Amino acid sequence: MPVAGLTLNEIYSPVKKDLESFSDRLKGELSSEDPLIRDIHAHILKMSGKFLRPALTLLSSKIGTRENPDAVKLAVAIELIHTATLVHDDIIDNSDLRRNQPSIHAKWGREISIVAGDYLYAKAFMMLADLKDPWLSQALSACAHVMCEGEMKQIETRRDFLMKEAVYLKIIHQKTAALFQAACMGGAYFSGADPDTIKKMGDYGYRLGMAFQIVDDCLDLVGETERLGKNVGLDIYKNDVTLPLLYLFQDLEGGEKRVLLLEIQNRTPRLFGKVRALAIQKKSVERAMARAHDYVQKGLGDLAGIPGSAHKESLAHLAQYCLERFQ
Ligand code: IPE
Ligand code: IPE
Ligand code: MG
Ligand code: MG
Repeated sequence: MPVAGLTLNEIYSPVKKDLESFSDRLKGELSSEDPLIRDIHAHILKMSGKFLRPALTLLSSKIGTRENPDAVKLAVAIELIHTATLVHDDIIDNSDLRRNQPSIHAKWGREISIVAGDYLYAKAFMMLADLKDPWLSQALSACAHVMCEGEMKQIETRRDFLMKEAVYLKIIHQKTAALFQAACMGGAYFSGADPDTIKKMGDYGYRLGMAFQIVDDCLDLVGETERLGKNVGLDIYKNDVTLPLLYLFQDLEGGEKRVLLLEIQNRTPRLFGKVRALAIQKKSVERAMARAHDYVQKGLGDLAGIPGSAHKESLAHLAQYCLERFQ
């Protein structure tokens, strides 16, 4: 069972060497002759995130019986896809802070950021094509495709704070959990695991991704910018539907609903503080965190059928880590 309070480095320790190869390879893939692209990529490398998805791929790649050096390439391609989505997401959200650094959008503006995100996607798919594995190429292409559907649906359903929970869950499955799922399945596939194990690893990744996004949504409401490395309150500002906001609206009376909806739409002064206080008072954040806990519990259940190893332990710790981000 997971031990609380481990740092990410401690959790990643069974794949420390592979993560070093991953970092070298990522640097190599982001090198360029073009001075502007070089500057942008140097900034991306300086920003460096938590590397959750590549760590998932590398840990999952030890689940079966085969060592496959291509797992590092897959981990890099997955991190590039993730980074591309963040570069574009910061344009969409008009966010100027990412990983405690100015976002690409803040530093270079919309036009360059759009192309920079596309460039990263293209690079990722070049790497995947080089792996010459149709199953993997198909899985990752389908994943990137579904992620776009999720981002699109999120924009399309802005302000729909009365939507069914299932609609919200589908959006976050698409925009976030699908990549966690692919990261785990791809790693397990490379390790020579049997189809049933690959599926279990995918289910674990999906549930981890769902929990991760729900916690991220809660942190947007009650977290701190400095700790998160990104601005809080953006979801309310963009009128994006998140689980704590959905639960808050479920708990308001008809009149209160209408007033809050207007305030959110008009971005009235001190809106963020008001919504944050209401969400705490009505226990909407607590309810959302309970859902995240459910996903983590189920994710740990998916891991139960996987033979014991230090890598499996780390995967269980990562699930716990997702919840501890909230503390
Ligand atoms: C941010 O993901 C996007 C979401 C799915 C909420 P991460 O928090 O994993 O981003 P980095 O890579 O560590 O910055
Ligand atoms: C982004 O979701 C998820 C993507 C797949 C890009 P968010 O908009 O919640 O991510 P942050 O909060 O900006 O990191
Ligand atoms: Mg965002
Ligand atoms: Mg967010």
